[in-house]
Amino acid sequence: MGLIYERLVRPILFLQDAEKSHDHGVMVLKALGALSPVCRVMERFNQSRHERPIRVFGLTFPNAVGLAAGMDKNAHFWRAASALGFGHVEIGTVTSRKQAGNPRPRLFRYPDELALINRMGFNNDGAEVIAQRLRSQGARGPDEEGIRQNPIPLGINIGKSKVVSLENAAEDYLASFNLLADFADYFTINVSSPNTPDLRKLQGEELLRDLLRSLREANDGRARKLGRKPIPMLVKISPDLKFDQLDRILELIIGLGYKGIIATNTTTARPRSMSEIREDGGLSGLPLHSRSVDVIRYIHHSTNGKLPIIGVGGIIDPVSAGRTMDAGASLVQIYSGLVFRGPFFAKTVDKALAIRQMKWI
Ligand code: FNR
Repeated sequence: MGLIYERLVRPILFLQDAEKSHDHGVMVLKALGALSPVCRVMERFNQSRHERPIRVFGLTFPNAVGLAAGMDKNAHFWRAASALGFGHVEIGTVTSRKQAGNPRPRLFRYPDELALINRMGFNNDGAEVIAQRLRSQGARGPDEEGIRQNPIPLGINIGKSKVVSLENAAEDYLASFNLLADFADYFTINVSSPNTPDLRKLQGEELLRDLLRSLREANDGRARKLGRKPIPMLVKISPDLKFDQLDRILELIIGLGYKGIIATNTTTARPRSMSEIREDGGLSGLPLHSRSVDVIRYIHHSTNGKLPIIGVGGIIDPVSAGRTMDAGASLVQIYSGLVFRGPFFAKTVDKALAIRQMKWI
């Protein structure tokens, strides 16, 4: 399947502007997501039936491979993700206000480097519209007993609206949290995208403490009111942090009872091989991989493996997925790999990771 995509489909797709072909992909997947009988048949073929599903953050994942945030920003096709073999899906980044994002062109492909640069800027329909969409699609968080209702764990990634100041960021994230909480199996607090001015300043100690504390209090309050468990909350970080900054973030995350970390978002750094490229934005794909793995390894060691990690960054084949797991990730996510390897890449990676695990035993 992967070879057919790379030899036949990808060359045609790549003739188009990157965002246009993304939009066409979304259209196809949206149509697939709406055809539940087809999805169910595809799920039977593509979804893994491991004897030992993965338990992490208090959730059960059918396999280790998730769809990273940014692909399904508006919750149009998360239902199709399971049919493609993903073990979880993260929608968003959703902001409390609808946003158009940055002017186009804002997504660029570099096939020789297996890399993308994007400066999308959180283009999304806004939390209210996305909440309505999720409701109409039947998305639901766990029931009273904590049993999952969504076909695979559904993560909702939230971020700051561009027009809102850093001082008012907590309120802005809270507005999204409150609108979307009924649908999520977990939340990701995104403080690491490079394309919203100043967003990454929220990784600074004081701002981060205020933000994470407000969200935790809202989550605990909601749980008490409904008699349910709080929703697991994760923080998504940048690969461009220095290790001493990372230490302070880890201390905060653990101290405030956050359940895990997603490492990493895209980087503003450029490898030597891409130093001629002048496009601003976040770089993803293969050139991000080694930094992302270093960050994951650092987190794993400095927390003695106690803080679960979703590893993301440059997973473009089973070997890079294995490296990410070896560095200490409990789960992985992919974005660029899907663009370069095709829609069934999750299944390929899942199978390879399962074989590796069997060999370890
Ligand atoms: C992203 N990513 C991203 N992350 C996030 O938390 N919120 C978002 O809205 C987006 N949007 C987005 C758009 C595009 C076009 C790309 C390429 C990436 C980052 C993504 O989830 C992931 O962290 C990085 O892309 C690194 O993984 P890969 O692409 O190397 O597998």
